[in-house]
Amino acid sequence: MKTIVTDSPEEAASFILSGETAAFPTETVYGLGADAFNAAAVRKIFEAKGRPVDNPLIAHIADVGEMGRVADFSPKTAQHLAERFFPGPLTLVLPKRRDVPPVVTAGLDTIAVRAPENEAARTFLRACACPVAAPSANRSGRPSSTTWQAVLEDLDGRIPCVLRGEPSIVGLESTVIDCTTDIPRVLRSGGVSLEALREVVPDMQGPQDHPGGVPRSPGLRHRHYAPAARVVLVDKAPSIPPHKKAGYIGMESPGEGTGTAPGRHWRLVEQVATPQAYAHHLFDFMRRCDAAGVEIIYCQTVEPTGIGTAIMDRLQRAAKGSTGRRRS
Ligand code: TXA
Ligand code: MG
Repeated sequence: MKTIVTDSPEEAASFILSGETAAFPTETVYGLGADAFNAAAVRKIFEAKGRPVDNPLIAHIADVGEMGRVADFSPKTAQHLAERFFPGPLTLVLPKRRDVPPVVTAGLDTIAVRAPENEAARTFLRACACPVAAPSANRSGRPSSTTWQAVLEDLDGRIPCVLRGEPSIVGLESTVIDCTTDIPRVLRSGGVSLEALREVVPDMQGPQDHPGGVPRSPGLRHRHYAPAARVVLVDKAPSIPPHKKAGYIGMESPGEGTGTAPGRHWRLVEQVATPQAYAHHLFDFMRRCDAAGVEIIYCQTVEPTGIGTAIMDRLQRAAKGSTGRRRS
């Protein structure tokens, strides 16, 4: 299959309208979309990504007014959250409407819905004129794609179209909230912080508060966000790495005589000024490390508040999933 790269949201939407998939930019990460009401089209997403079929997708809408097409939008907390955070990096899990095909939600009777803020995404979604089911546009298990080039790196020849846009501003996925229980609960940390959510819903439960320790978001069971290189978390920036095939990302300088001189001590360094910049660069840095043959990536930990909660979640998953070199 030939993969077309286009700057036209309308051209990308024409693939969705003809029952195909198309990748598109959002402010969190790039998504790989298909018409949520076309089961055959949605199955192509799972095939292209190599995604486990028990992992449900998010339905993307252009405007909050379209919520009722896929979900029961009656829970008051969901309405308050949408009022404050839509469009934006937030996903609400709600009771599903019966006419959404089961492949979208992996057979669950709930559905995740999100209205992205990115202008290109909104123009694309409006042109599709249907809710667009989309996971992140990466091969399953790899770091999410935050640039159109990263989408091609993983999916060139496996999908028909990529809508070329800006690098994703946030750089980490949306916050997923279960709104089907009396007290809503964060299922996955992301672009909207728990602190901000609690300004609207003061008793919002955090991601650690899962009864019996079982995460209710099916995707959290799977290996995720892992580069080929081994990921090691460090509280302090290391000054002497064990070998030259190492990368480092963090807020502190990685020590004397290293700086950004690749090859001397580090192959690649990304020193970030703020947690926001950390989130923005993290997945792209992991991918650049893989491309440069880095064998071990040192990631400095951050305070688990604000966007830091999502950074730490992704770092911990990447470190857990990493087994050293897995070049494919
Ligand atoms: O920022 C984002 O959320 C990006 C962009 C493209 O919108 N999308 C994204 O999709 O990260 P994906 O498929 O990589 O992650 C969706 C997460 C998974 O952990 C999945 O299990 C969870 O949302 N999810 C989807 N539907 C669900 C449902 N009905 N109940 C609980 N969790 C659900
Ligand atoms: Mg994903």
